[in-house]
Amino acid sequence: MLDLFADEMPWQEPLAEGAVILRRFACADAPRLLAQIAQLAAISPFRQMVTPGGYTMSVAMTNCGEVGWTTDRHGYLYSTMDPLTSQPWPDMPGIFKKLSDAASTAAGYPDFAPDACLINRYAPGAKLSLHQDKDELNLQKPIVSVSLGLPAVFQFGGLKRNFPLKRVMLEHGDVVVWGGPSRLFYHGILPLKAALHPLTGEYRFNLTFRHTR
Ligand code: SIN
Ligand code: FE2
Repeated sequence: MLDLFADEMPWQEPLAEGAVILRRFACADAPRLLAQIAQLAAISPFRQMVTPGGYTMSVAMTNCGEVGWTTDRHGYLYSTMDPLTSQPWPDMPGIFKKLSDAASTAAGYPDFAPDACLINRYAPGAKLSLHQDKDELNLQKPIVSVSLGLPAVFQFGGLKRNFPLKRVMLEHGDVVVWGGPSRLFYHGILPLKAALHPLTGEYRFNLTFRHTR
């Protein structure tokens, strides 16, 4: 029987040299990923971090894995402890590892084995200014970024902040992988437009997998 609500088959869209969007790649796993995010956030809650410049980030964040990305008045760092709970970050769920390895492999980067997963939560208006992911020691490994819930506009530029930007809409289940020549490309998220998603309500979630060491 024709199922009008079946998940779409994934497809690939090149973004830049070394970078690709795996459209809808995470759709089938999404309900389980979201259930895991809720469990992880019960251990290490979402919080709005303060940057070294004293700016409170609009995106709420938490982490899972061996190390987690944090920022405070002193700088950016990967730490084994959650500074909010003074406990280690919760383990990375098996389904997270499976998905990130499948995505990196599909994008041409096998043997990813991330040790960190940053979990971002965007409410309406939340944004992430243009930045490079450069706090990782191992730049041979790619970044794998999973979008869940409400759509958002992703900007992807080049090695310098003022290089031209591509703007693409990232939707529920889309996975972006960037590495190699685009590993240090500037990127960001424009302010989230208010809407309601059947699985995430007023939020967009993003999982960013990194290999930090
Ligand atoms: C990030 O750059 O850490 C996240 C990007 C996104 O939310 O899609
Ligand atoms: Fe980033």
